[in-house]
Amino acid sequence: MGMGYELAVKQALVVSIVLGVAVAGVEPSKKMMRLRQVPAMYVFGDSTLDVGNNNYLPGEGVPRANKPYYGIDLPGSGKPTGRFSNGYNTADFVAKTLGFNKSPLAYFVLKAHDKLIPSAITRGVSYASAGSGILDSTNAGGNIPLSQQVRLFQSTKAEMDATVGPGAVTSLLTRSFFLLGVGSNDLFVFTTELAKQNRSATQSDIAVLYGSLISNYSAAITELYELGARKLGIINVGPVGCVPRVRVLNATGGCADGMNQLAAGFDAALESLLAGLAAKLPGMAYSLADSFGLAARTDQLAAGFVNADSACCGGGRLGAEADCLPGATLCADRDRFLFWDRVHPSQRAAMLSAQAYYDGPAQFTKPINFKQLAQAQE
Ligand SMILES: *[C@@H]1O[C@H](CO)[C@@H](O)[C@H](O)[C@H]1NC(C)=O
Ligand SMILES: *[C@@H]1O[C@H](CO)[C@@H](O)[C@H](O)[C@H]1NC(C)=O
Ligand SMILES: *[C@@H]1O[C@H](CO)[C@@H](O)[C@H](O)[C@H]1NC(C)=O
Repeated sequence: MGMGYELAVKQALVVSIVLGVAVAGVEPSKKMMRLRQVPAMYVFGDSTLDVGNNNYLPGEGVPRANKPYYGIDLPGSGKPTGRFSNGYNTADFVAKTLGFNKSPLAYFVLKAHDKLIPSAITRGVSYASAGSGILDSTNAGGNIPLSQQVRLFQSTKAEMDATVGPGAVTSLLTRSFFLLGVGSNDLFVFTTELAKQNRSATQSDIAVLYGSLISNYSAAITELYELGARKLGIINVGPVGCVPRVRVLNATGGCADGMNQLAAGFDAALESLLAGLAAKLPGMAYSLADSFGLAARTDQLAAGFVNADSACCGGGRLGAEADCLPGATLCADRDRFLFWDRVHPSQRAAMLSAQAYYDGPAQFTKPINFKQLAQAQE
């Protein structure tokens, strides 16, 4: 691609940003595509949202969805892309509801192809990284923790400013959608550490945990706000005690109630945090998506899932005694399993969640839904 083309693209971008027009880019418009609700989307979080960043991280201990049967249901390729799903993940479906064809590409993919700034300006960037937590210490060394994801966005923004000018960037970011989903890994690590010490959490352990999670989440959100984020869609922590990997530790196969209580307590603290931040940061709008309530209060059978406790791709009891790797057992109908592997939702479960966050029952989003957030005026 020559300089002339790059320049022309840049100029077109500047014009479209100034005019407030969403750029459709070079993709042919797809039938049934919804109009874009926002000019761009920036994604921060863990494996529920990662679209390939971890494939670029070095090291043995890095969680990567880079082998079959990950991606088996992705239209066209059926190949693994780094998504922890049989197809698209929650970030993709949130993006689809907002009028994009899928999640913005992963930061490292864009970097590798020299497309970071063109993408940052026309549709967004994903910084999400599997295994990451709110705390830097969570699975340290094997992921990009939330604080680093925010730092990568900060450096992206500096490059955007240098390319199209800070005024255009501020206008773009003000209208863009910032999607965040993180916290489960912090709770998994906390629980695993206590189990290693053969003890259960005291009230004081839990208070210390929530304190550091909330203070660091608060710092990350405030930093994003200072960089220009105004529309924040935040997914809370789901019932982590109900994932197959945790259930299989229970002789009855039931959910770990203690872990779910831990998640519910964190979610309550997150709700207060967001209300407090919105009250003190002028122009901040947010939607808190209740993934916990959605999972806990949905009749999964009525929603079309015949299996809501086992991994579709795995092995052994509840499909949870083996990773989803080549040679794993696959369930017969992947759309009828709530869980794809022993931790992550199936593509269909991710789709239903994203639809609920966009404009589903009001009880699953506070104080507004993703659609209202996307359409909110400054
Ligand atoms: C909390 O956030 C600060 C600022 O980003 C960071 O320096 C610190 O390492 C974080 N602490 C933990 C435990 O992650
Ligand atoms: C925890 O219990 C197991 C088995 O009861 C024992 O082997 C191990 O040493 C204990 N660990 C600690 C940290 O006490
Ligand atoms: C195991 O599951 C049962 C429900 O089947 C539940 O009552 C029990 O609390 C669970 N055990 C733990 C340790 O969470």
